[in-house]
Amino acid sequence: MIFLDLGYQPLANEYLKNTNSKEKKYRLLVDFNKKSKIVSIKKKFSSKKMFKNNYPYRSSMSKTMTQSFKTFAKDLKKKFKKKKILEIGCNDGVFLENFNKSFSLGIEPCSNIAQLSKKKGLNVIIKYWNQRTALKIRKKFGHFDLIYSANTITHIKNLNDVFKSINLVLSDTGTLIIQDPSMLELLKKNAYDQFYNEHIYVFSYVSLSKLLDKHKLYIYKIKNISEHGGSIRYFIKKKISKNVIDKSVKIQLQKEIKFGLKKFTTYKKFGFDVNKSKNKLKNILAKLKNLNKKVIGYGATAKAVTVLNYCNIGNDIIKFFYDTTPEKHNKFIPGVKIPVKKYRILNTKEVDYAFLGAWNFKKEIYQKEKKFLKSGGKFITHIPKPKILSY
Ligand code: TYD
Repeated sequence: MIFLDLGYQPLANEYLKNTNSKEKKYRLLVDFNKKSKIVSIKKKFSSKKMFKNNYPYRSSMSKTMTQSFKTFAKDLKKKFKKKKILEIGCNDGVFLENFNKSFSLGIEPCSNIAQLSKKKGLNVIIKYWNQRTALKIRKKFGHFDLIYSANTITHIKNLNDVFKSINLVLSDTGTLIIQDPSMLELLKKNAYDQFYNEHIYVFSYVSLSKLLDKHKLYIYKIKNISEHGGSIRYFIKKKISKNVIDKSVKIQLQKEIKFGLKKFTTYKKFGFDVNKSKNKLKNILAKLKNLNKKVIGYGATAKAVTVLNYCNIGNDIIKFFYDTTPEKHNKFIPGVKIPVKKYRILNTKEVDYAFLGAWNFKKEIYQKEKKFLKSGGKFITHIPKPKILSY
């Protein structure tokens, strides 16, 4: 059942070389499946269409994520000692670089990004995650006791194939750890921009546990983390390997049921709130435009593509975006065609207001832009509600 219509959207990470580059748009509808409790976007693109040899997203572009992966890797090394680790969707190696090269293997389909991992000396196979890849890996490297995947599994259309493939390489007593944005946090923060073509699914404990059950897997521990606006780390095992179930699992289940994650009405209400959020953001920006304020964007994220296209915000309102990713520089944001420039520290001589495209890194950005804030510069956010933020 559809609960959210985000209008016509381009593919989020297809930055345009110039303003008359052709691009296709599709209707971004978001669905709640009453039976499986899975939340997904209606039009699901194949990995081949989205993850190619010119992918512009690098996981290491924020200090927050680099530090988070480093800390978690340290934790895992302590707990799992010298176990072999496989990472599905290793991107530029920001997580795997913390492990001994001879015990780790990464899978990454975007060859330009995989090359960045390889330059770090990491073992990386440039392939999509599927049963064929899993069988090849098993033949060459055997089973793995530890499999990790952050912000990747929810990007793959065929979830049954994903978990069948995992079952092929995970050892019987092994641990699978999945880390993805949390549906509960998304609803609480009204973070509708977590929906775009790459985020095919947003998991909740309720939906993921049902799906895993079909694949004879179960969640034995849960950790809520602040990354990407609120994510969950799910610790998973095969059913044949009995493990004590941590109390965090029951706590998460109760929280999700209490919030109404099993009920369509909860999602429907969210749909209404998103519409209100759109009108409010548009009003704020229109007022600033009337006052001739210099407004730019901060962080040309995929999330921002959803917001800008849904709210129809163009470069008459937001002049340009600053972003730290080289692959995005001197290009244009899909759909709304706002230019993306190489990041420069904010200065009130050039900028009055900066719209937080990367609101999930607000803390890190505030730290970097202390001077801007102290001298009267302001940010605009739409999370959890559209508002102007000042020092
Ligand atoms: P992220 O939320 O990971 O993006 P997405 O919505 O695409 O998943 O944000 C990362 C983007 O934000 C990336 O393009 C780099 C940019 N960024 C900056 O430009 N400056 C910053 O200080 C931070 C933290 C991110």
